Amino acid sequence: MIPPMGRMDGKVALVTGAASGLGKATALRLAEEGARVLCTDVDTEGGEAVAKEIGASAHFQRHDVTSEAQWEAALHEVTERFGGLHALVNNAGIVIVRSIEDTSLEEWRRQMAVNLDGAFLGCKHGLRAMREGGGSIVNLSSVAGLVGQPPFVAYSASKGGVRLLTKSVAAHCLQLALPVRCNSIHPGGIDTPMTRSLGEKIPGAGPTTLAVLDKMDVSGPLGRPIDVANLVLFLASDESQLINGAEIAIDGGLVAL
Ligand SMILES: NC(=O)c1ccc[n+]([C@@H]2O[C@H](COP(=O)([O-])OP(=O)(O)OC[C@H]3O[C@@H](n4cnc5c(N)ncnc54)[C@H](O)[C@@H]3O)[C@@H](O)[C@H]2O)c1
Repeated sequence: MIPPMGRMDGKVALVTGAASGLGKATALRLAEEGARVLCTDVDTEGGEAVAKEIGASAHFQRHDVTSEAQWEAALHEVTERFGGLHALVNNAGIVIVRSIEDTSLEEWRRQMAVNLDGAFLGCKHGLRAMREGGGSIVNLSSVAGLVGQPPFVAYSASKGGVRLLTKSVAAHCLQLALPVRCNSIHPGGIDTPMTRSLGEKIPGAGPTTLAVLDKMDVSGPLGRPIDVANLVLFLASDESQLINGAEIAIDGGLVAL
């Protein structure tokens, strides 16, 4: 019997922040559908474990997304090792739980460096790697990139930036007739270490952060990482060929309210 075709057969993907949560689920899902995957992260132990779980079709490289030199090294590694790049998932991220009144300039800059500089550098260097052969960039924004989130002001601003970075990259590719698509996805609360750590970080937050957290409705079940991974898979694959510059909420309808 002929084995069924994988939805990512013959494709190469790079997933940042692949050691944990949504990045891990995405790397596993893409590999399951036939992709060869470069898993990158600053967490070497976690990243190596994910690559090991996938097997021969994956490799881990330590890669801080705030470093342009490390982006160049990661792109070099993926093209040398796997012969090209077809899908880039800009997933690595952090969340700093601070209101506008409690956020220091240093915290603001750190938040922007990882979430927005990281996605910018990924789009810039990923596009260069894919501009001839074609490909798909998927940027992890958030519902916090669609609506204001008072307890995480810098996070929300960084994710809003990712949303319009995405559309600008998509429009650039359209105008220059480059065969690269770029879309953003906007998860609501998903059950990952990041979401679970929010509770731990809250006690250290300043008084106005605690006050706005008090008013936040955090009821409702958390989504599953596999649901996000399945959306990334669709956008990374050729099934979504006509989807470019889109923002897709994956939040059970939260921002539709
Ligand atoms: N979990 C959610 O509910 C949710 C909702 C909306 C958006 N998101 C976004 O999804 C992405 C993944 O979130 P998650 O919940 O899986 O978080 P997570 O904390 O479980 O995983 C994030 C990963 O990014 C890595 N990372 C952090 N800084 C890095 C850096 N400078 N360079 C490279 N890697 C770095 C971490 O080591 C970690 O492995 C993030 O961009 C996050 O903002 C998550």
